[in-house]
Amino acid sequence: MRQALIIGNWKMNGNLAENDRLLATISTSYDSSNGIEIVVCPPSIYMDQVSRQLSQSKIKFGAQNVSAYKSGAFTGEVSTAMLHDFSCSYVLLGHSERRSLHHESDVEIADKFSAVVQAGITPVLCVGETLVQRQSEETFAVIAEQISKVVEQVGIKAFEHAVIAYEPVWAIGTGETATPEQAQIVHALIRRQLAEYDVTIANNIRIIYGGSVNANNAHSLFKQNDIDGGLVGGASLNADAFINICQAYN
Ligand code: PGA
Repeated sequence: MRQALIIGNWKMNGNLAENDRLLATISTSYDSSNGIEIVVCPPSIYMDQVSRQLSQSKIKFGAQNVSAYKSGAFTGEVSTAMLHDFSCSYVLLGHSERRSLHHESDVEIADKFSAVVQAGITPVLCVGETLVQRQSEETFAVIAEQISKVVEQVGIKAFEHAVIAYEPVWAIGTGETATPEQAQIVHALIRRQLAEYDVTIANNIRIIYGGSVNANNAHSLFKQNDIDGGLVGGASLNADAFINICQAYN
């Protein structure tokens, strides 16, 4: 049985006061709700605030990015050891905004994946196709390559505790969501691809969906067999919307 996972990706949003209010509301509601795993990913500068505020809560937190290097002259970067210092549990890797705006390649993403696994942190590998790729029926080829490049570099065993997030680029921040059926097809294909390497890992790995998830569409997405939760951007900044999404799992 795969435990449901909902991750809030705050992106470059928030401030001390807003974070405080958001965390207070979602942590109060979480403790009285269900057995799903909830994670928030703040900008790294707020990791300390979030770790303190969630110290008594079951809500976990993660980073939006990390360096593949251990330490050294990498201005502006944050290492896995630094994240570990704050008991950070997850790291998003290969988010489409990092792939497109920061030109992260599959090789770099795989290097980061390996560093994260070695640090005992759970990587959340984000994959997804652009609208042009979907329209030219390249969706699965694109995603299969994004996954196989990492598997071939780090080995399938490194996926034992990993999470995959399917995020069609055309659905991120656009208000347009993949239909539950469209998403399910891709999730099932990802699981089938992983099964070619290792059936147990394929069955156990959590594959979550991201791209304009909101309180109205969450339930029908989460009902699909191979959708194990959500990666939520915009709606994770609003406590009520995020709580409603988490409750939609039931
Ligand atoms: P969105 O973002 O929910 O605002 O579409 C999702 C993401 O980028 O992870």
